[in-house]
Amino acid sequence: MTRRVISRAAAALVALLATPLAAATVDVIPRPLSVVAGSGTGVRIDPATAIVVPTGDAGATRAARELTTLLGTRAGKATVAGQGDAVVFARGDVTGGPEAYRLTLANHRATVTAATDAGLLYGAVTLWQLATAADQPATGPVDLAPLTIVDAPRFAWRGLLLDSARHYQSPAFIRRMLDWMALHKLNTLQWHLTDDQGWRLEIKHYPRLTSVGGFRVGRDGKPYGGFYTQAEVRAIVAYAAERNITIVPEIEMPGHALAAIRAYPKVGFAGVDAAAQGDWGVFPSIYRTDDATYAFLTTILGEVVDLFPSKVIAIGGDEAVKTQWHADAATQAQMHALGLADETALQAWFVRRIGTYLNDHGRQLIGWDEILDGGGLPVNDTVLSWHGADGALAAVRAGHDVVMATAPTLYFDNRQSSLPSESIGRGSVIALVDVYAYDPGDPPLPKGVAKVPLTDAERAHIIGLQANIWTEHMATEANVERMALPRAAAVAESGWTAAPLRDWTNFESRLPAQFARYRALGLDADEGAVEVAIRGRRDGDSVRVRLASQTGLGDIRYTTDGSDPGPASTVAAGQIVVPLGTTVRAATFAGGLRVSGVASRSFTQAALRYRVSQKLRPCTDRVVINLVGPGGPFFADIMDTCWLWPAADLDGVTAISAGVAVIPFNFQLGDDLKTVTLRPPATPAGELVVRLDSCTGPILATLPLASVRAGEVTPLTAPLSVSGTHDLCLATTGRTPDPLHVLGWVRLEAAK
Ligand code: ACM
Repeated sequence: MTRRVISRAAAALVALLATPLAAATVDVIPRPLSVVAGSGTGVRIDPATAIVVPTGDAGATRAARELTTLLGTRAGKATVAGQGDAVVFARGDVTGGPEAYRLTLANHRATVTAATDAGLLYGAVTLWQLATAADQPATGPVDLAPLTIVDAPRFAWRGLLLDSARHYQSPAFIRRMLDWMALHKLNTLQWHLTDDQGWRLEIKHYPRLTSVGGFRVGRDGKPYGGFYTQAEVRAIVAYAAERNITIVPEIEMPGHALAAIRAYPKVGFAGVDAAAQGDWGVFPSIYRTDDATYAFLTTILGEVVDLFPSKVIAIGGDEAVKTQWHADAATQAQMHALGLADETALQAWFVRRIGTYLNDHGRQLIGWDEILDGGGLPVNDTVLSWHGADGALAAVRAGHDVVMATAPTLYFDNRQSSLPSESIGRGSVIALVDVYAYDPGDPPLPKGVAKVPLTDAERAHIIGLQANIWTEHMATEANVERMALPRAAAVAESGWTAAPLRDWTNFESRLPAQFARYRALGLDADEGAVEVAIRGRRDGDSVRVRLASQTGLGDIRYTTDGSDPGPASTVAAGQIVVPLGTTVRAATFAGGLRVSGVASRSFTQAALRYRVSQKLRPCTDRVVINLVGPGGPFFADIMDTCWLWPAADLDGVTAISAGVAVIPFNFQLGDDLKTVTLRPPATPAGELVVRLDSCTGPILATLPLASVRAGEVTPLTAPLSVSGTHDLCLATTGRTPDPLHVLGWVRLEAAK
């Protein structure tokens, strides 16, 4: 099928073009397949440059319009070519499959050639990136050197998943996301439209799915909801198609089904309190396996197939808790009548039945890797691999197409850095470099699993990769955008760029221009990769300061006089020593341009004795989350509310203050709830207990939690007196996990 032809053709092209010139760097992400420098004259882009499209060619006209929009006031207008410089869009075959294009800059012409609309669009995007390269002026005319780029993707599926079920995003936001996905040559958006916490897709046949299932009341008592009408969905799907993006709808089954079951209780089992619907985690709610529920689900899928032209339709299949099937007599009787050994086999039967429905309607099924459990998955079903790559490779060997969507590296609900400026997310840090290092064609295997090389035929079944933006902890659209960018750029390069051309250092050198583009487009990319972390330790009347960024890109420049650092400010080399009381401001610069925002830290005595929760260390690493909440975020392990302040300077300290918040424990943990660490309280409301040197050390202070009020961070204070430098352990006590007491900040109070 076409997908495999693409990767084989691209591989052949790499072999053909593997000359030193083929690897030349242009400031383009994802890195193109072949770049060959030309000679003579290139092309000038300015308002006089003509932009020429074949008469009546709608795809070329769209690509030209995209280019003029991106270039803004620097661009010419779509017109007929005159004597001056011109950008010409032309139809013609280019090796490398349906997304391939050629871009030639020579003799006052930029010529974008492609057989497809996708190729013309991607050629336009590459031309815009050349015009916004780091060595080009930020405004005014651009002169581009002569060259030829021949480009095609390594993988057919270069995707992101957007979870619109846990939190809803507006159609305008989704269009904005599709816009920037196209600028990364990302071509697939898996749209997670249903889950326990919400049903977001209008289904004409079952209006309660959205009128009831689209809205929840969280444990915080706040109603929350929203959904997409079919008219909105059709418009979004068409908008995506114009940008070469396929929207793959995901309708979760048999688990992750609470919202639908709340709307139509007969398709599930009793048992989940509607008040818990805003909880995160895995609910036990599962669809029935009877014919009535099959009719319900296939009626829904009938409307889904009508709305979404995607060849594959995602049906979830993950994390289906089977206790309700196990406990239900009718389900057990059906299972035995079907000759199925257990509930896992029953799920496999259920998935096959749904897959057959999709096949009968001209579509194919894609699901998370649990659809392999129980065996018998039809070979034309595609697997989304989120568990270890060993399972994915077994699926590939069995002949399934596989999309690598591996946790935790491709889970964009993880933080990008440990800087306090990271707003939300799971505690693990998945840095830009980690995402870049992930090669879907050679995925890292779990420890102890031996690597068995794939044959070419097997390898061709790895059709690409997808990063998943799960939104349990991303309540706002701004959060989603920040968690996606710039990591989507690494996904784009892993999906597009030929394996021999993948190189982190080279990618890093193209980041300054990419950050500048994000800024110019008004996109709020996370700067955890380049922002300066300012760390300091007091040494008498001085502070020893270290400045570092996650990537080490460019130079770090700093000031100590309160001004913003500029390209001429001092470069930080090694440790710097400043007097106590100094404010250090620092930023990353590359090629004379500021790449990061300005980080600032005041090294007063008081500031050194204050830490937000993100600067403390959770005592355990079980389910660490930067939790959203009034006055937050709060960095905590929800399984054990305990924090360490290593090497606290306690000389002169007379008291300890802590800002504590109380938030609902809204996590469905199943049996794991029993493993939450609970420390016996001395009073009914519990305490925050401060211990010396370790969490079993002597108690230094006890701060009663009784006065902590919901909706704020309540300051608590207790005397504390000990000298020297010691680790401090701060842990809450309480009889139940709910509510959750979390630290916002801690301050050591001194007499002066
Ligand atoms: C998943 O993360 N449950 C696919």
